[in-house]
Order: sequence, then C-alpha cells, then structure tokens
Amino acid sequence: MPETGFFLEVHDVVKEFGHVRALDGVSLSAALGEILAIVGDNGAGKSTLIKILSGVLVPDEGRIVIDGKSYTALTPKTALKAGISTVYQDLALANSRDVAANIFLGRELTKGIFLDQKRMYAQAEQLIRNLGINIPDVRMPVEVLSGGQRQGTAVARAVHQEGRFFIFDEPTAAMGLKETAAVMRLIKRLAHQGYGVIIISHNLPQVFEISDRICVMRHGKVVGIVNTAETDMEETVAMITGAVKIS
Ligand SMILES: Nc1ncnc2c1ncn2[C@@H]1O[C@H](COP(=O)(O)OP(=O)(O)OP(=O)(O)O)[C@@H](O)[C@H]1O
Ligand SMILES: [Mg+2]
Repeated sequence: MPETGFFLEVHDVVKEFGHVRALDGVSLSAALGEILAIVGDNGAGKSTLIKILSGVLVPDEGRIVIDGKSYTALTPKTALKAGISTVYQDLALANSRDVAANIFLGRELTKGIFLDQKRMYAQAEQLIRNLGINIPDVRMPVEVLSGGQRQGTAVARAVHQEGRFFIFDEPTAAMGLKETAAVMRLIKRLAHQGYGVIIISHNLPQVFEISDRICVMRHGKVVGIVNTAETDMEETVAMITGAVKIS
C-alpha cells in the first residue's frame, strides 16, 4: 500500500484532441474498498480519463500513480498488470464460448497436455458465487446472457486476472431495473471485499445510492470531490452545471 493510502492517484493529467482540451489538469485519488463515482455532463471528459487509466489513450501531460508506482502513460497491458480493470458492457467476451471459458480465457488450467475442464468449471462456479453474480450455470455460452450477466462474467474474469481496481463506464446505461440492481449489488460487493471501484454514471439517484465519494467533472476539469454523505442531489447538479463555483 502506498503511503498516501490511495491505490490510484491521478496528477495534473492533460489530454487534447486537436483544439479540444478534453482533460485540463485533472487530479484525483481513489482508495481500495471505496466506490468513487465520477459525474459530469456530456463531454466533461469522464470517458477520456477512464481511457487513460486503462491505457487506451496516452496523456499529453501529468502522471498516474498506481500502488505507489508512477507512470507517465499506461498501455492496456501495464494497466492490467498494475491491477486496473476496466469493465465495458460490450467488452471482448468470446460469445460462442461458455462463461467458464471466458473467465479463464488465455489462462486456462491444464492437466498434463489437456485442459482441466473440471477444475475450471469448479473454480468458475466458486468465483461467480463469491461475487454474488446471478448466472445459473457457468456452462452457458456468453451469447445467451443478459447485459448484467455479461458484466458479471467480465468482472469474474478481471478478478481471476488479479484485478484490484475496477472501473465501470456507465455500466447500467442500457439496462432494465432488475439488471441494474444486480450490477449495483456486484459493485457494492466488490468494494466490501476490498477492491477499488470507479463508476461513471449519469444516474444521480444511483450515484447517491452506491458511492462513498463523488467527483464532479466539467469542461475537462475536476470541479470538486465530495463525500456522498455530505452532499445532496441539488448541490451535485449545481456543480455539474456550473451553477456553483467550487474553488
Ligand atoms: N477520440 C477523440 N477525438 C476527438 N475528440 C474527442 C475524442 N474523444 C473525446 N473527444 C472529445 O473530448 C471531450 C470529452 O469527451 P469524453 O468522451 O471524455 O466525455 P464524457 O464525459 O465521457 O461524456 P459522456 O457523458 O457524453 O460520455 C468531448 O468534447 C469529446 O468530443
Ligand atoms: Mg463518456
């Protein structure tokens, strides 16, 4: 654990796309065991920040500290290795393969020269159960799963790959109530089990229900980071829209 107590630190990150300054000196920190929500209007820079944290984009300036180690840029590989897993709804799951195969993709268990299917099914079963994911059978092909179950599979894979910090970019945007509740439960459970979580969401009631802290972004800047228990919807909306100036 780094001395600050934060697993993830972002320092003064700048990212420009031509004339658009998508991130204009963003700094924030996040700890393991907490849920940090990032909110902000369309174009505020949320997804750009997440892409930098997952190694998809390279920042123009600034640095990222993960578990005490400083990086000026990440690649998808180094981000994963450092324990950062970004969970997209349409993430790269092998659709025709079953849940267990997806969890073990690229890290299959073997017995001699053969795949150890029995052990993989048992471990996948255990992993799904520990995370409280509602998938009746790990032998189900991923293509028949719902959006929430797919995300569950992705999280199980990330946990299996030794992810320590999970980032969700609008995980429930296209989901119904039941699915949304399941994903929220999973995210809460991850935090309870000591993993770090960042969730981007436009759904403020959801943000208030789930998060420990809220980071508000506007025009590529962090306008404030507040404890969820110490703010309310009205103040948050004011920060998002710029009705209040926070120094
Ligand atoms: N690849 C890109 N090329 C050019 N401009 C980009 C690119 N990606 C993002 N931008 C711009 O950067 C700014 C921030 O975009 P970003 O996607 O990070 O916003 P966001 O906060 O995720 O918005 P939303 O809530 O709509 O998802 C926007 O002005 C966007 O148009
Ligand atoms: Mg976005």
